Amino acid sequence: MSRFSRRTCLKAASCATALSLLGGARAADKAEPRLLTVYFSWSGSSKTVAEEVQRLAGGDIVRLETVEPYPESYNDTVERSKKEREANARPALKTALPDLDKYDTIVLAHAIWSGCMPMPVRTFLDAVDLSGKRVAHVTTHGGSGLGRSHVELAQIEPEALLLEPHDVYGWHGVRNLESVGAWLKRIGLAR
Ligand SMILES: Cc1cc2nc3c(=O)[nH]c(=O)nc-3n(C[C@H](O)[C@H](O)[C@H](O)COP(=O)(O)O)c2cc1C
Repeated sequence: MSRFSRRTCLKAASCATALSLLGGARAADKAEPRLLTVYFSWSGSSKTVAEEVQRLAGGDIVRLETVEPYPESYNDTVERSKKEREANARPALKTALPDLDKYDTIVLAHAIWSGCMPMPVRTFLDAVDLSGKRVAHVTTHGGSGLGRSHVELAQIEPEALLLEPHDVYGWHGVRNLESVGAWLKRIGLAR
């Protein structure tokens, strides 16, 4: 091969490599975000927030439900939840555990119960390993904000990459749903 044609070939090869790299970047841009929203909701507020996350950020969504459903009555639910916390119980989930290998970012949404995360959320967290995953934590509440739940999450999942958490007022319906979009933008999960 002459010097000229060899140089031409090398140039063509490096152009082809650059083009294929560019193509790869474009494909990655278009790829579905590997995002999963997992939520636990008794009266619907955390469900509303989780669905807003999915609407704005895409990805998949899973609702955590217990084998034994919580009562309809608020007082009975408070009573049961207190007993579960005192017993450090892990209420069994009827929800099948998602395959977390498919995701690199998890949004965890739940209500605040007695200032903490509901025990079924602990059941979920005990059953999975969020090490190395980006985790965006959002609570709904009637005034407690995140309560102790973010500290609990950090203790249960010490190797997770916890993003800035967020809380939404959710007593008898969600009040500041629009804050979810601003939060998702801040943490880079929505445009
Ligand atoms: C059993 C129980 C305990 C609760 N404890 C608290 C609490 O300690 N602090 C608080 O701000 N709100 C508390 N709430 C209110 C819920 O956190 C709030 O209404 C939340 O938005 C409900 O979310 P959900 O509709 O997804 O279940 C409690 C509600 C229930 C049912």
